[in-house]
Amino acid sequence: MRIKDVVVREILDSRGETTIEVAIADDELRDFYAQIPSGRSRGKHEAAVLPFRDAEAAAARIERAISGRDFESIKDLDRYLIEMDGTPRKERLGGNVMLGVSLAFARALAFERKEELWQVLNREFFGGKADGPFRPLIFSNLINGGRHARNGLPVQEYMVVVRPRGSYVKTVGKLLRFYEILGDALRLKTGEEELPLGDEGGYATAFEDAFEPVQTLEDLITEHSLSEQFSIALDIAADSLYKDGAYDFGGLKLEAGTLRETYDDWFEWAPHLMSIEDPFEEGAGDDFAALRRDLAGVTGEKWVVGDDLTVTNPALIEKYAAAGAVDAVIIKANQAGTLSEACEAMNKASALGLKRIVSHRSGETEDNFLVHLARAGNAEGVKMGAPHESRVGKFNELLRLEGGMV
Ligand code: PGA
Ligand code: ZN
Repeated sequence: MRIKDVVVREILDSRGETTIEVAIADDELRDFYAQIPSGRSRGKHEAAVLPFRDAEAAAARIERAISGRDFESIKDLDRYLIEMDGTPRKERLGGNVMLGVSLAFARALAFERKEELWQVLNREFFGGKADGPFRPLIFSNLINGGRHARNGLPVQEYMVVVRPRGSYVKTVGKLLRFYEILGDALRLKTGEEELPLGDEGGYATAFEDAFEPVQTLEDLITEHSLSEQFSIALDIAADSLYKDGAYDFGGLKLEAGTLRETYDDWFEWAPHLMSIEDPFEEGAGDDFAALRRDLAGVTGEKWVVGDDLTVTNPALIEKYAAAGAVDAVIIKANQAGTLSEACEAMNKASALGLKRIVSHRSGETEDNFLVHLARAGNAEGVKMGAPHESRVGKFNELLRLEGGMV
């Protein structure tokens, strides 16, 4: 397939900040689009994000370079872009621009083949095997802190993990109701009628300390007899707390060892707590591994998850799997900067026995490609914020793609 035009537009994300949309036109001048989300707590090794003016210039260079060329597959195009960029972090062409071109091109292929985006990805990267229904665990961020809120909580995300039970639409319905009862509980506690929300649609009220939100979720799960279906997950995003060898944890300066003991206590006090993402800064693989060893002694399945640590990068995933640092990895296509590399990271992770959680970013768009990526690679989990306004489209896409066939 040939691409004629590559255009970048400046659009708004769910936070009200700007991000980009990439549009390409095929030979017959049909347009295909991709909107690129934007993260606030980015890992150092993520693909670079070019601001709009530079993104426009990069798109013009890509357009000149690829016009008249035939690309047979997503891999074929991505390989060309990666070579053209020539830097490890995609600083010349921008991970946001490259992913936009890669994704819009995948949509053009899907149109040509009369398939869904996920089917194109599934065939090219995951061997075409996608039998049965797709019902991943849902990680939904219901209480926001860190850089996503202004309530002073050091922990960025307090999530519930919902396991599918019965029909998937009922499962999502249970999550919606849980989000409501949590809102009711927080209204009662704070006396506020209008609760402040964070960037991902979770509540951003004030709490006594960093553990209180965990206790709140723990109590509600028990009270409403949801222990079979609901667990708790945290994203510490610890890189944003780390300075001069210590973590600024709610006003306390904690060394890694003390922070680890804090987590050990939390897992002991909150039996529903099952997963902790980025518990230490992104160079601290040894601390991740030590925490993992501690959690091996706790009853139930417990996951240490890499996000800023592994940044959807196959080499880093391999390194930290070998170090015993993680049970699961977050997959964000824009950390990688092309669809090929994101799919390669998913395949690498599953070959190493790691779970994959395909994730949105805190600044989202209407583009629901993350659900297609998750469906294509049969991911064990999806992470999509609270089931609130700007994110509802992602939940609906998940319900649409649940079935084995389309
Ligand atoms: P970000 O954070 O999208 O703001 O980078 C999300 C996360 O850390 O998981
Ligand atoms: Zn994270």
